[in-house]
Amino acid sequence: MKIYGSTSFTGIIGYPIEHTLSPSFQNAAFERAGLNWVYLPFKVEPDRLEISFAGLAAAGCRGLNVTMPHKQAVFTLVDEAAESAAVVKAVNTVEFKGGRSIGHNTDGLGFVRSLKSDAAFDPVGKKVLVIGAGGAAQSIALALAKAGAGEMKILNRTRKKAETIVGLVRSYYAGSIASIADMDDSDDIRSCDLVVNATSVGMATNPGLPLGLDLLRPGQVVYDIIYWPAETEFLRLAKAGGARTVNGAGMLLYQGAAAFTIWTGLPAPIEEMAQALRAELRDRGTEDIIATNKHSARTNIIRHKTDNPGTTG
Ligand code: ATR
Repeated sequence: MKIYGSTSFTGIIGYPIEHTLSPSFQNAAFERAGLNWVYLPFKVEPDRLEISFAGLAAAGCRGLNVTMPHKQAVFTLVDEAAESAAVVKAVNTVEFKGGRSIGHNTDGLGFVRSLKSDAAFDPVGKKVLVIGAGGAAQSIALALAKAGAGEMKILNRTRKKAETIVGLVRSYYAGSIASIADMDDSDDIRSCDLVVNATSVGMATNPGLPLGLDLLRPGQVVYDIIYWPAETEFLRLAKAGGARTVNGAGMLLYQGAAAFTIWTGLPAPIEEMAQALRAELRDRGTEDIIATNKHSARTNIIRHKTDNPGTTG
């Protein structure tokens, strides 16, 4: 693309940011849509976040994605929060419009769109298990509830944080569909139609399995939000056991597609974006295999851990 005096810029802020895949498919989307826009990575240290955010806004940035560790902090910096950000108190997409900044969160929507498109799974009335209780798990749990899930189990190493998510889902969706997964009731867990790993367990830097394989059953949809490695040990073993498995590349893609639409008002050219993401992942393949093999022998299965009294989780 050519950069002119009139070129619009967008980007992603995070720390670290070197491994982001978003520039590959957002720039492909701008090109396909015929927009002279560019998407750049910005490495922003936490103690420089406020000044960087204000500076980007003042310099005419059209939109931002926000990644670790800034999602919660940016929620406190935006002038307005859309409902998608307000429910999780975290922002992954900023829209700059008319001198104001509006925070959105497209993670949950991205997850549900990927689930429907990549796994042909509609959550309406289904029983789902969400493993994890961080920001990603929270977005996913709320999005599944909004999409009409019939029953939801939450499992997390730190039980207290799982309870917070159960409370959050209950506060937004009447009918109390959410509860803590009872590890002593394996039939209850095994009967879930969908299992989502929303923890970082399975990444090269955090190897292991988020759930014992004895708690899975053939025919389930098993979704791992990790896309790096493309197939975690958990997905590989779940697939071997007869599950339909999906990695998190689709969630990354669809959350980005929703951000593209927020910034430009245009439908996202999803095919071109997917193609660009696939190409980028392919290019990084070798490094991925090396990182995975190094750790493949270790396992790390989640059970609820009781908090020490007095900790805040
Ligand atoms: P994010 O906001 O990206 O979801 P996070 O807030 O750091 O990231 O959450 C990471 C999740 O992975 C948490 O649910 C965490 O469990 P705890 O709440 O007990 O910390 C989970 N997790 C990370 N490493 C884990 C491990 N080795 N075993 C079990 N759970 C792990």
